[in-house]
Amino acid sequence: MATRSLITGLLAGLFLAVLLQQLPPFAQLPIANSERGTAAWPTEASEFTAMLKNLLPIARHTARGVASGAGYKSSQLAATTTSLLHTSTPTSASNTPSRLSNTRAYSSDSAIMSDKKTFLEAVQQRRTIYALNKKAPISDKQIQELVNQAVLHVPSSFNSQSARLVVLLNDEHDKFWDFALEILKTIVPEDQFASTEQRITGFRNAYGSILFFEDPAPVRKLEEQFPIYAHHFPTWSEHTSAMHQYALWVALEAEGFGANLQHYNPIVDRKAQEHWNVPVDWKLRAQLVFGGKAGEAGEKSFQPLEERVFVHGAKQ
Ligand SMILES: Cc1cc2nc3c(=O)[nH]c(=O)nc-3n(C[C@H](O)[C@H](O)[C@H](O)COP(=O)(O)O)c2cc1C
Repeated sequence: MATRSLITGLLAGLFLAVLLQQLPPFAQLPIANSERGTAAWPTEASEFTAMLKNLLPIARHTARGVASGAGYKSSQLAATTTSLLHTSTPTSASNTPSRLSNTRAYSSDSAIMSDKKTFLEAVQQRRTIYALNKKAPISDKQIQELVNQAVLHVPSSFNSQSARLVVLLNDEHDKFWDFALEILKTIVPEDQFASTEQRITGFRNAYGSILFFEDPAPVRKLEEQFPIYAHHFPTWSEHTSAMHQYALWVALEAEGFGANLQHYNPIVDRKAQEHWNVPVDWKLRAQLVFGGKAGEAGEKSFQPLEERVFVHGAKQ
């Protein structure tokens, strides 16, 4: 029964793929690489191929859902997203002349993204956790894959893709916090250094750090190309960085890590850039420290929702 459903699903997917290949471009799915709701349509054979590649995982997933007799649940949605992520095709900035030559297909076989938590559960459970250790619930390869998927799929203004992430694991993570401590020792008054050292040692005790940089080059390019929005682009660059930070904070939570967000920029920038060969004009924006959870998050108070959320026009 399960095998028959799997085959039915795959055949349905293949049929759909062949059918789509016959349709003219205007009857097909838009590739969301344009801004402000104007859909851009695939014009190149490589883009079609990439689109079709995305359909097969859907068919496989449908077949899996039918085979397992599972109903519609958000965890299933997460599974669909995961399979789509693994064959996704990012599009480069729609306003970039080298748009098509920059378009690449990325794939991954490593099974990541927790299927134990829904997205909303991970959002609810993400907290600032300072007590972290060097135990990792997933492999380094899977951490890299998580970061790759965030960088591919987190949005940026005009699809400018200005975020640059440096992932430091194991000894390299330790080194970053050693550098931070060395620098802080030259700045922090002697009588306050013990608490600084304790804090930095806490970060060092974690498993890894992700350094979030922003590359000013794509931002400058947008300022030149769209003078009417020029004053917004630096702010939007900060927004996309924050989105990357948050996406990974939640994704790491979903995988069982604890994390906290730090801002030892700009004091550590130069040393880190020298050591890890990071272009000097990239701007360090934040450091996400993550590791095994060795303690609980602190108490958190919540301002009343009625003062923060305003809904108009809701039915039911
Ligand atoms: C933009 C931003 C900047 C933050 N900067 C720091 C920081 O420099 N150091 C730190 O320990 N926590 C920092 N935090 C963590 C916040 O203090 C924390 O998220 C907030 O108190 C809510 O707690 P929660 O993360 O447990 O939900 C920052 C959070 C955000 C969103």
